Amino acid sequence: MAARSKIPLEYYLAISRAVAGELDFQNVLNKIAEAVQSKLLLYDHLDVAIVSPGDSSMHVAFETGVETHWGKTRDTQPNDLSPVRHVLNGKVSHILTGDAWEDDRFHFEGASDAPIYEANLHSRMHVPLYVHGEVLGTLNVSSHRKNAYTDEDLAITQNIADLISPYVYALNMSEQARVSALAEGAARGREQSLRVGALRLTEAMEAERQRLGMELHDQTLAELSAVYHQVTRLSEQPKPKPGELGQIADSIAHSISELRGIIENAKPGVLELFGLTQAIEAQLERATIGIERAVKVSVTDATDDLLDGGPDPIRTAVFRIVQEAVTNAIKHSRCSWITVKLTSTAQHIRIVVANDGDEPAEGWRRSSGGVDNIRIRAALISSHVEFSRNANGIGSQTDLTIPLSALTRSPESDDPSTTRLHKFAQLERQMP
Ligand SMILES: Nc1ncnc2c1ncn2[C@@H]1O[C@H](COP(=O)(O)OP(=O)(O)OP(=O)(O)O)[C@@H](O)[C@H]1O
Ligand SMILES: [Mg+2]
Repeated sequence: MAARSKIPLEYYLAISRAVAGELDFQNVLNKIAEAVQSKLLLYDHLDVAIVSPGDSSMHVAFETGVETHWGKTRDTQPNDLSPVRHVLNGKVSHILTGDAWEDDRFHFEGASDAPIYEANLHSRMHVPLYVHGEVLGTLNVSSHRKNAYTDEDLAITQNIADLISPYVYALNMSEQARVSALAEGAARGREQSLRVGALRLTEAMEAERQRLGMELHDQTLAELSAVYHQVTRLSEQPKPKPGELGQIADSIAHSISELRGIIENAKPGVLELFGLTQAIEAQLERATIGIERAVKVSVTDATDDLLDGGPDPIRTAVFRIVQEAVTNAIKHSRCSWITVKLTSTAQHIRIVVANDGDEPAEGWRRSSGGVDNIRIRAALISSHVEFSRNANGIGSQTDLTIPLSALTRSPESDDPSTTRLHKFAQLERQMP
């Protein structure tokens, strides 16, 4: 790349301008990455590792470009297992390597170095993000090419790190509360996570309400108006023409079936009447009706209907999570089968929704749509969810783990998260 002295200030200011006003950490990083790529450095992978404010021996990574295990897990990881541990721990001022595959600094007992090979990262630069003289994290830039970076590039990377450190620090204060809450279930953090989750879910529900209103307006109301006009016209004629009454009956039957579909989607009635497994079976059937390709579906429940004995909000959340995972498989993956498996151990219930379709596109876990709602619903029931590609490279799966303790917690308890959960259940029930 160009020598440091020749980089106009304007290029660095482009970074500040790009991130101004952005509050979502991932969006900020994406904007920084775009500005860096277009003006300052070429790279194939860029990530930021942030030291946990509550525990400086741990960190969490956010990445752009190629997606790797580092960014997939939003749980905090020990600094000592990071290939850049010495920068994170403040022992060295930077690392610059021409080939990370061969560089012993990245490979040691227990090192989280698999992504280096999997994502084909050879040249790498790692510089610290400093705030108040402390290492807040590292900025990591990698290329598929060997010996791609010079000392000049390293200096540019450090300049970028210095520029973004205060912004990252400020965002980290709020983001970290949410992330560590999800990962560790710490009571205070969990409250914060639930607050953010509550807000997002309320927004999602409001959007859903609007969607329903629009569907009722555009579909059912439009059809009923057409029927009304047909009937009015008929009433003015002495005798209906053959087939006219039949047409009206067909239109009404169509409206009824549309309306039924809208109601079914809004409220999982089967869930309340027949339990989770049947509701999931019904959902799988509904989801596959009317699509062109054949999709085999199956539900196996080896938990002895454990979830049906637990609190309603948990069952409803699980149903909604499975519903979104199934909808996504149908909508995005071109799969030929979908399986839903419920199993249990002495500590957990596990629900895995898998399909054999296309691999999801890069960055799908960062979606702020249904995938994020799944994550929020899981957090609200104190559960853990992982989205992964299947091991054989075909299709993907959504893997939800619910601690059994969540099923026995009393709904009337004073635990704020439980009370909040019940408020959600009420809200969900009130949906049209
Ligand atoms: N099972 C899947 N197979 C392949 N790709 C998937 C799958 N699930 C999700 N994706 C990808 O992840 C993206 C994000 O999914 P998400 O559910 O968040 O949003 P959406 O389905 O596009 O919209 P929404 O759920 O808000 O209606 C999808 O657009 C799709 O590209
Ligand atoms: Mg979706």
